Amino acid sequence: MRDKLVDKLIKGEEKRQRDGLELIPSENYVSRDVLEANASVFTNKYSEGYPGRRYYGGQEFTDQVERLAIERVCKLFRCKFANVQPHSGAPANLAVYAALLEPGDTVLGMDLSHGGHLTHGHPLTLPAKIYKFVNYKMKNPDTGEIDYEDLRRQAIEHKPKIILAGFSAYSRTLDYKKFVEIAKEVGAITMADMAHIAGLIAAGVLRNPFDDGFDIITSTTHKTLRGPRGGIILTRENEEIAKKIDKSIFPGIQGGPHIHTIAAKAVAFGEAMKPKFKKYAEQILKNAKAMEEVLRKNKIRMIGGGTDNHLILADVFGSLGISGKEAQTVLDEVGITLNMNTIANDTRKPLDPSGIRFGTPAITTRGLKEKDCALVAELMLETLRNKGDVKKKSEIRKKIKSLAKKFPIPNNFV
Ligand SMILES: Cc1ncc(COP(=O)(O)O)c(C=O)c1O
Repeated sequence: MRDKLVDKLIKGEEKRQRDGLELIPSENYVSRDVLEANASVFTNKYSEGYPGRRYYGGQEFTDQVERLAIERVCKLFRCKFANVQPHSGAPANLAVYAALLEPGDTVLGMDLSHGGHLTHGHPLTLPAKIYKFVNYKMKNPDTGEIDYEDLRRQAIEHKPKIILAGFSAYSRTLDYKKFVEIAKEVGAITMADMAHIAGLIAAGVLRNPFDDGFDIITSTTHKTLRGPRGGIILTRENEEIAKKIDKSIFPGIQGGPHIHTIAAKAVAFGEAMKPKFKKYAEQILKNAKAMEEVLRKNKIRMIGGGTDNHLILADVFGSLGISGKEAQTVLDEVGITLNMNTIANDTRKPLDPSGIRFGTPAITTRGLKEKDCALVAELMLETLRNKGDVKKKSEIRKKIKSLAKKFPIPNNFV
């Protein structure tokens, strides 16, 4: 790289990723092959439109690579239609709303403080200014069970056009069949935002909402799916819906697709089809369970009472008297990266909430197994309990660094 200033920053980030342990549950490391495709000459190409129907010439290879990505992702998730052009998860969700709703129409989604995502109706987002969002919640934050009776009651009362399942800070499984039943009762379309768990679904270690009759799945491609930063929209079988979604992405809300990213998505989907990816996904779950066990032994309150997926949401303020923000900062000092998070019925503010959210997708890519993850959880708690002890923190920092060294970020893994 001849731009020394940018080169220095890239090298700095490489070192940061290499030396620390990444526990943010929405992050991962891509393979060299995904990275290469993402940095390929496809970035030079304009290809507004869809394969075979573009507004520019020179589409011989772009058409092939986009078709390949579509074919692979449809096979992976067992659906008929896919749009692989969304630049990321937020535009994917916006495109679905714009495709299927009129301004003022209603979406029934998971409450943000109970695990939903900003794009599911936070008042500061554009969708919330155009559409009406109503929310369902957990019945009991200590078990994580969704209040399906209330969900049904709200569906009958508000007549949503879309019932939305999906989350970014929820650690239990959803009963997709119940969502579909309720949606049928009120004539709503079912949409699952699987951004966090797409890789686990692709690998078959978590249930695929399409198998229970969901109409649409949106997702990011850069979390458990271990692809480039991007989004996808999948439609199980309804061609009319799929066509509306295509129009909504282009020309609705996006211009030219990022074909380099689509090439990298195709590589990632190919990797996710391999048997080794299934092993990876199984290990993510085992590792999360190992961390859960350490927290339980240490009497740390977990929202949902534990985890069925890749993430844990812990009430560190309630359990240790440390705010989420302080926990995030002090863990950063020892080389553990995670994020503060609001918990259900939080008494604190979103910028300094009661919880921390962490997960195992990235450390599992590095090869950590259950006992290593248990050690990381123990070191996390030791750090939090000794937050003011500089010597102790420096000892822990060394231990984290040596773990990071023992488990280098691999170049290729399937
Ligand atoms: C459930 C869910 N949906 C959508 C998004 C938005 O994705 P992006 O940040 O790629 O726009 C996220 C990101 O964290 C998410 O967790």
